[in-house]
Amino acid sequence: LRHFLSLDGLPCTLLTEILDTADSFLEVGSRAVKKVPLLRGKTVCNVFFENSTRTRTTFELAAQRLSADVITLNVSTSSASKGETLFDTLRNLEAMAADMFVVRHAESGAAHFMAEFVCPDVAIINGGDGRHAHPTQGMLDMLTIRRHKGDFKNLSVAIVGDILHSRVARSDMLALKTLGCPDIRVIGPKTLLPAGLEQYGVRVFHNLEEGLRDVDVIVTLRLQRERMQSGLLPSQGEFYRLYGLTSERLKVAKPDALVMHPGPINRGIEIESAVADGKQSVILNQVTYGIAVRMAVLSMTMSGQNAQRQLNQETRE
Ligand code: CP
Repeated sequence: LRHFLSLDGLPCTLLTEILDTADSFLEVGSRAVKKVPLLRGKTVCNVFFENSTRTRTTFELAAQRLSADVITLNVSTSSASKGETLFDTLRNLEAMAADMFVVRHAESGAAHFMAEFVCPDVAIINGGDGRHAHPTQGMLDMLTIRRHKGDFKNLSVAIVGDILHSRVARSDMLALKTLGCPDIRVIGPKTLLPAGLEQYGVRVFHNLEEGLRDVDVIVTLRLQRERMQSGLLPSQGEFYRLYGLTSERLKVAKPDALVMHPGPINRGIEIESAVADGKQSVILNQVTYGIAVRMAVLSMTMSGQNAQRQLNQETRE
């Protein structure tokens, strides 16, 4: 693992190793995450070209808990506003001896581009690229499910809402399939479902109550309005009427079904406040587990990058 760009093609053994490593960073029975020296002497640089609350701050915390030096570039106040390109921005940060970049960008494929063409010797972690992938969110969602449900073998998981524009949905579907979840459902209107869903082995529902029947886990998603063409924005009231997760609709799922959401939540649009704050909600647990998962991904990717550097060195000698 030299970069962490997508969950596509990663084997079950590797995803399980990430979950086990993340688990090892969590203190038993508490929300605390251990501090360890695994990245002492390394520099992690967060470069977010799109807004973020959870991903950026939990990557910062994760790097600090691994004892790394951490820089967070505020792109909106950086020299990108004076016309400096992504290429030049990253090359300058690389010149400051950054070992890892955590990157978020509005363009799908941006993280792959950086890993391949801009700075292949720096480990690139994808913090979300367009509608393509959000692999650490996918893994923290899997850790949340595993810690509350044990394993994936007999689970029904429903992902509800704007699947079309959601990088989280894509990463969750890939992870669930790889980890052996036998019943993955996606629920939404035809206009918010992408083509090619069959590759993920999912069942598609357009009716919320039908799709939620007897599920163990519900992942709700917000309408990604920033990725929609203005003429195609669905009405928020209509969306809530048909697809909003209310207390009444939650009763259709199993009584101990988990309610998840990657955040930010839009109360009264995709989820009722009583559900978001209710006893089945694990939305804030997801945030906590995000620190541990990001610690696992940062430390495992740095190990892979170190091994590659060692190999390159030996080849040159
Ligand atoms: N889940 C998530 O990516 O949240 P942020 O946009 O706040 O990072």
